[in-house]
Amino acid sequence: MRGNRPIHFFLFFIFFSTISCRKMTSGNNDNSNKNNNQTPITSFFAEDIDKLQTVTLVEGHLPLIITVPHGSLNLPDSIPNRTEGQLVADAYTISVANQLSNQIQQHYKVIPYLVVFNVARRKVDVNRPINEGCESPQGRRVWKDYHNTLQKTVDTVKKRYGHGLLLDIHGQAHKEGMVELGYLLSGDALRSVSTNDSALVKQSSIQLLASRLQKSGSTATAAASLLRGNGSFGHAMMVNSTGNEASLSVQVVPSPSYPYPENGTLYFRGGYTTKRYHTTLDVIQVESPKSLRFSKEGRKLLCDNLAKAAIFMLDHYYLPNRSKL
Ligand SMILES: *[C@@H]1O[C@H](CO)[C@@H](O)[C@H](O)[C@H]1NC(C)=O
Ligand SMILES: *[C@@H]1O[C@H](CO)[C@@H](O)[C@H](O)[C@H]1NC(C)=O
Ligand SMILES: *[C@@H]1O[C@H](CO)[C@@H](O)[C@H](O)[C@H]1NC(C)=O
Ligand SMILES: *[C@@H]1O[C@H](CO)[C@@H](O)[C@H](O)[C@H]1NC(C)=O
Ligand SMILES: *[C@@H]1O[C@H](CO)[C@@H](O)[C@H](O)[C@H]1NC(C)=O
Ligand SMILES: *[C@@H]1O[C@H](CO)[C@@H](O)[C@H](O)[C@H]1NC(C)=O
Ligand SMILES: [Zn+2]
Repeated sequence: MRGNRPIHFFLFFIFFSTISCRKMTSGNNDNSNKNNNQTPITSFFAEDIDKLQTVTLVEGHLPLIITVPHGSLNLPDSIPNRTEGQLVADAYTISVANQLSNQIQQHYKVIPYLVVFNVARRKVDVNRPINEGCESPQGRRVWKDYHNTLQKTVDTVKKRYGHGLLLDIHGQAHKEGMVELGYLLSGDALRSVSTNDSALVKQSSIQLLASRLQKSGSTATAAASLLRGNGSFGHAMMVNSTGNEASLSVQVVPSPSYPYPENGTLYFRGGYTTKRYHTTLDVIQVESPKSLRFSKEGRKLLCDNLAKAAIFMLDHYYLPNRSKL
């Protein structure tokens, strides 16, 4: 499994391989060639649990990590089903993450990090604290595989770049049909008129970015624009080539057009992953609606806009100096 194989081969391999070993690395670590053909991919296997491949890690060359905690449909018999809590998978989110990663790679010629959990949420929920997300010792064991891998990846990015962005990819079925970006701010906090955005962003899951901007001498307005102003991920997703927010089929909250979820509607503000890692890197939970996940055309539109926003964030806030790429 070494040498110049195309990424598609590796993706095929990592998702379908049944080779059993605790940890396997393919590719090599020669970073002098920035070609993705050399990307090391590590898979973690739990030999005692059905030779189960629990986590897939794709090593990247950008300060961006894409995570997929709820996309898997694998139901290994060796892990008992959970009986409580949210048990349904976020359908098509692995596909969304792969497509997003490919588009970012086409732009920069290097790939972001990708961490995928390969066990269904029916068995283990890795976007919950361990005691809520697991009901069995086998479950806790693979929960730890995922978070040990992700923690190491987060620490690696922090060490290598000094900062970075984690996009936690999810799906929901709320009737508003919007892409919901979670910054650890509740709907009430986003609707509140008594707190301005300079103050809000300091309580958010991108507070590290906000304080970094301020330290580097940017205006307070620049930091305040990160949540739902012209410097935000939401704006970058919705804006079209003319610089206007198009009335498109992709609606994002928060963004300049939709600064807060309407009172009385459901909105996901970010879960365990966002809470746990936002003290080291910036984290945004991305919750896409069914309408953008369940068809090929929908996923294309979603991924085009997610990639546009991720590239905007990287260019503006994480890679102003490309020499480390
Ligand atoms: C576990 O859940 C799956 C999916 O809901 C179901 O098909 C399967 O029969 C369940 N297994 C047990 C042992 O209950
Ligand atoms: C925003 O709120 C903070 C404290 O809550 C205050 O210091 C600051 O002046 C406010 N900024 C604006 C632009 O109103
Ligand atoms: C946002 O708008 C302000 C004022 O027009 C401008 O100075 C700033 O560069 C814009 N920020 C981004 C990230 O485009
Ligand atoms: C961009 O969005 C604006 C505002 O909705 C719209 O008027 C314009 O036609 C759009 N342009 C393109 C190229 O889609
Ligand atoms: C939001 O709705 C609830 C009831 O649905 C109501 O009690 C509350 O006052 C509303 N808040 C605002 C800010 O309108
Ligand atoms: C970019 O980083 C390199 C080394 O890390 C440094 O030598 C160079 O001055 C930096 N350039 C800018 C514009 O900050
Ligand atoms: Zn989810």
